[in-house]
Amino acid sequence: RSAADRSRTADQVQVVAHRGSSAALPEHTLAAYQRALAEGADALECDVRVTSDGQLVCVHDRTIARVSDGGRRVVSTLTLEQLEAYDFGSWKHPEQPEPQPVLTLEQLLGLVADAGRRVDLAIETKHPVRFRGRVEAELLAMLKRFGVEGATGPGQGDPERPHARIMSFSGVALGRVRKAAPAFPRVFLFEHPAVLRMWPGAGLPAGAVVAGPGIDLVRRRPGLVRALRAAGHQVHVWTVDEPADVELCLELGVSAIITNRPRAVLDQLGR
Ligand code: G3P
Ligand code: CA
Repeated sequence: RSAADRSRTADQVQVVAHRGSSAALPEHTLAAYQRALAEGADALECDVRVTSDGQLVCVHDRTIARVSDGGRRVVSTLTLEQLEAYDFGSWKHPEQPEPQPVLTLEQLLGLVADAGRRVDLAIETKHPVRFRGRVEAELLAMLKRFGVEGATGPGQGDPERPHARIMSFSGVALGRVRKAAPAFPRVFLFEHPAVLRMWPGAGLPAGAVVAGPGIDLVRRRPGLVRALRAAGHQVHVWTVDEPADVELCLELGVSAIITNRPRAVLDQLGR
C-alpha cells in the first residue's frame, strides 16, 4: 500500500478504547471511560455480563478477583446491589487508591448519550452458553431503550448519535443477535485462524460483517487480514498498544484499532 493509503487509513481508522482508557485507569470503570472520551476516543469497548438479578454490568472475567476487593466471587451469582459493595478501582494504583463502583451497561450508555459528540460502542457479550441468550436479549432491549442503532463505524448512520456493534468469540451468540436484531452488525472475534475454517469460504459466522482478530495473529498472519478485506469484511484488531503494531494495522488498512492507550494511538495517527 502507498503512503497515501496509509495516511487515509490514519485519518479514518476508529480508535476504540478497550475497557476505557484502561492502561491509565482501572478497566471498565466510569473514570476509565470518561478519560477515554476526554482523550478523544472514537468508540468505547466493553465486556458485558449478567448479575443474578438480571442486570448487565461491565466486567471482563467470570469472577471479580482480578479487578476488585471482592475475591473470587462469580459475577453471575451476585445481585447488582451485592456487586456495588465492592471497590473496582483501588487495585490499579494501590499507592493512590481511587475507589470506583462496578459500572452498569446502563451507566455506560448514559455516558455515551451525554458525550456531546458521536461516540460508538463495541460491546462484547460474555458467557454465551450458560445463560442461553439472556445477555444478548437484555443488551438489545437496553440499546433499544437508549435509541442506539447498529453501525460498524462513523461512516454509517446519524453522524450525531451513538451507534453500536456486537462482538463475540461465539458464533452461537452472534447468531442470536442476527436473529433478534439483524440491524446490529456482528463482529466475530478470534485468535486462531483455524476457527475460520469452520465457516466455508471467507464467510464469518452468523453473517458477521466484521472480523476481529487479535494482534498476535495479525503479526503472524498479515495475509489473513488482506484476505478478509478482499472478501469484503472490515477488520477490527485488538488489543493494539505498541507503536509497531499500530503501524502494521495502518499498513493493512484495518477499520478499527482497539487499544488500552487511546491517546497514544491518536497521537501516532496525527489526530
Ligand atoms: O475487543 C476484543 C477483545 O476485548 C477481546 O478479548 O479478552 O479482552 O475480551 P478480551
Ligand atoms: Ca472484550
